[in-house]
Amino acid sequence: MRIVFLGPPGAGKGTQAETLSKEKKLPHISSGNLLRESVENDTETGKKAQQHINKGQLVPDQIVVDIIRERILKNDCKNGFILDGFPRTLSQAIVLDGMLKDLGNKIDIVFYFAISKESIVLRLSGRRICAICGANYHVKYVPSLKDGICDKCGGKLYQRTDDKLETVLERIKVYHEQTEDLINYYKKNGILKEIESESNVESITENILKVIDNASKSASFVNLGVV
Ligand code: AP5
Repeated sequence: MRIVFLGPPGAGKGTQAETLSKEKKLPHISSGNLLRESVENDTETGKKAQQHINKGQLVPDQIVVDIIRERILKNDCKNGFILDGFPRTLSQAIVLDGMLKDLGNKIDIVFYFAISKESIVLRLSGRRICAICGANYHVKYVPSLKDGICDKCGGKLYQRTDDKLETVLERIKVYHEQTEDLINYYKKNGILKEIESESNVESITENILKVIDNASKSASFVNLGVV
């Protein structure tokens, strides 16, 4: 199954993608993580991307599209994947559709994470990431057992540089200007599922799994010629 997680910054896409990836054995492909990796590795792409990320603006389409194309073509994506944070512009969505069509595939479900601006700001201001394994925490909502230390590997927790309030507000603005239109794009394609994202992590996971299980059931009915 090929799944896209669409929604504003801090809506919980990464958190849910991690769980779903384990539950459904699908690779979690986060465009943000891939870009941050290239920044850490000090590659040419990373150098170009960093200036945009730090300002809370989108990295140019061509850079992101190339990174995603390379990732999707890997063997582990043959049976599906969860795309988190990509596509983020109409042109990225069109390129993605073309890429998948060439492979004889298509996106099955797009989850749109609906959440208020107030919650986004609260979530991003408290987010902490493990410097070693990348696990995601929140000082209040998803705290680590020991303050500032990762439960999974003992690594130090840090705050992302683009989680400063000023940059968060810019990211929300950019989302409204450049990404929100994708809601209608996927609604018209009939594959958009809205997920209420103000609730706790567990009930959101439950809702996502229900949608996926229903979609899988109807797909097998179609394959059996029942529908
Ligand atoms: P990216 O890394 O994709 O960031 P984002 O989309 O802004 O999303 P976030 O990672 O901030 O939030 P999330 O929705 O994953 O929330 P999370 O689960 O962490 O992109 C960063 C930058 O890279 C962009 O600004 C851009 O420059 C560039 N970029 C990336 N993709 C691009 C593209 N396609 N095109 C161009 N540029 C691109 O949760 C947030 C916090 O809330 C955490 O602390 C978590 O523990 C907590 N939390 C999660 N769920 C809940 C819940 N239900 N209740 C309470 N707390 C919760």
